[in-house]
Amino acid sequence: MASAAQMKDPLLVGKAIRAQLENEIPRDLPLEKDFSELGEYTITDHVLELHEKLSVNPRTTFIIDNLVKHLHAFARETMLTHSEWETAIKFLTRAGKESSQHVNEFILLSDCLGLSVLLDELNHPKPAGCTLGCEEGPFLTVDAPEVPSGSTISHPDTTGEKMHFSATIKNTKGEGIAGAKVEVWQANGDGVYDVQYAVREHPDDRARIVAEPDGSFSYRAVLPTAYPIPSDGPTGDFLAALGRHAHRASHIHFLITAPGYDTLTSALYPSHSPFLGTDPVFATKKSLICELKQDKDPKSWKEKGFKEGEVVNGRVWVWSYNFVLPTLQEVAEVKKIFNERKEKQI
Ligand code: BEZ
Ligand code: FE
Repeated sequence: MASAAQMKDPLLVGKAIRAQLENEIPRDLPLEKDFSELGEYTITDHVLELHEKLSVNPRTTFIIDNLVKHLHAFARETMLTHSEWETAIKFLTRAGKESSQHVNEFILLSDCLGLSVLLDELNHPKPAGCTLGCEEGPFLTVDAPEVPSGSTISHPDTTGEKMHFSATIKNTKGEGIAGAKVEVWQANGDGVYDVQYAVREHPDDRARIVAEPDGSFSYRAVLPTAYPIPSDGPTGDFLAALGRHAHRASHIHFLITAPGYDTLTSALYPSHSPFLGTDPVFATKKSLICELKQDKDPKSWKEKGFKEGEVVNGRVWVWSYNFVLPTLQEVAEVKKIFNERKEKQI
């Protein structure tokens, strides 16, 4: 290992390094082995060995070492060419440059690679019978109005057919979770979120609702329709290169929190929607698909809080669902089983 004096020797190190060394002496090591792709000792071994000797944070080293192993294996398996590597670098550079306050191309890419859904599965595993989760997406805002259960959350001028949504939020014992907090947000009948309009005078098609003492809640809105994820940037090109499309099935997003329970981020989909099987972000799951009913009875619309004149096309869509949330303890038990299974595989 080079000595501190050697490190500061102007004949051995340059000015920039000497300036740095005034504060910090890097841990140096002699180069003992030559690595070669055709030999026993490869660049992968060399990187991992260096990390093992210099590690300052075991978790960081563990994560990066796994990344290095998989990345190197990927290059070997695909026999990646320089030109393909350059395409990837240009693509990632574009993803950085074309990300904006509302659309982060790296998150979109993570979604379209199935990574976001995988992270949710790993970090919020659901015990049997609990509602499955999926990613939040980019359209949750902090300014949704808090309204009582039973309210209308769409502005009277909002495009779309009328919809009545009702749900229960229960635990795995079948007990209603009183006071659970629900954040709901959805697109309108044109498949557009309020934040996607150039002018947004007020939040629309979104609300915070506190569940009733029996864990139920409901609201009136318009029926959301299918829409494309932002696809005019590199992620759109990525999807096209794979023969995939950018359209998400029609859906409503929910974020449900309650003390002592695992937070649920999920979405529900009507069975009539196109694109359920080809979701670009892999967030459609069979148990989240709902059969909607069509209510064509003006008397019943009135009971649900609609005025006859505001209902279009002679129907109100009726959508209901029973959410089931696991306790934090139940999730911890499932994670334990995950870890035990993983340790057995190693
Ligand atoms: C959404 O559902 O709103 C969404 C999810 C992931 C990426 C883009 C949009
Ligand atoms: Fe969405």
